[in-house]
Amino acid sequence: MPTITIPQLHAKKAAGEKFAVLTAYDATFARVASEAGIEALLIGDSLGMVLQGHNSTLPVTVTDMAYHTATVSRGNVSSLIIADLPFGGYSTTTQTLDNAATLMRAGAHAVKLEGGLWLAESIRLLTERGIPVCGHLGLTPQSVNTFGGYKVQGRQPEQARRIIEDAKAVEAAGATLLVLECVPRALGAQVSAALKIPVIGIGAGPGTDAQVLVLHDMLGLNSRPPKFVRNFMQGADGISAAIAAYHAAVLNGSFPGAEHTFE
Ligand code: KIV
Repeated sequence: MPTITIPQLHAKKAAGEKFAVLTAYDATFARVASEAGIEALLIGDSLGMVLQGHNSTLPVTVTDMAYHTATVSRGNVSSLIIADLPFGGYSTTTQTLDNAATLMRAGAHAVKLEGGLWLAESIRLLTERGIPVCGHLGLTPQSVNTFGGYKVQGRQPEQARRIIEDAKAVEAAGATLLVLECVPRALGAQVSAALKIPVIGIGAGPGTDAQVLVLHDMLGLNSRPPKFVRNFMQGADGISAAIAAYHAAVLNGSFPGAEHTFE
């Protein structure tokens, strides 16, 4: 089966069709999720919390990300693979290019980095060199110490305005996808409408072009799941069925519901 491409995801947005993204960190889950129809797999630096047991994503290294990207790439069937550049891994343009190239060599089809306008030069540099970029705005977990916790972003008008401006700047610099995390539903819909590139929401309401969840959260393995998570193992007869149910619920718009959404 051919790998899903970024132009295909753009065509889905243009046609008003949703798509689903899920984190994956190893070959087996990558295969299961890809076979269940998940359009894109994200090797998130959430692996620092989910796999490594840290209380933030900050300890994750480029070596960790390259290792897990390679394992996901070996299990993947046909999904687009996006890999996170970890904390401290894109501080200068040279470092950004070197680390992004490492993740692409490990099997990524695109890299994701957290931030807005300040990243424009790096995003342009990567894009011009054939490395597709996924931006990440709203609650950017690598900035947890700046935010003072994992808090909803964009509730104040000034914060919301900044997120919209950053989203436009990231798109103008060449980003081809954008993750938007933990913002009020109205802002999620507003950012998605303002951009041509697909916006992948997590806790950003039903109005985004796609959804992403952390695999272990949607399998019910998190004892304190965030509000935006639904446990898809409930009512499923196995992990493949749970992931297929997540995929179907995103595509038919039944996930996220009001109970998973911030106002
Ligand atoms: O690291 C990660 O898993 C992520 C998602 C939460 C979007 O960035």
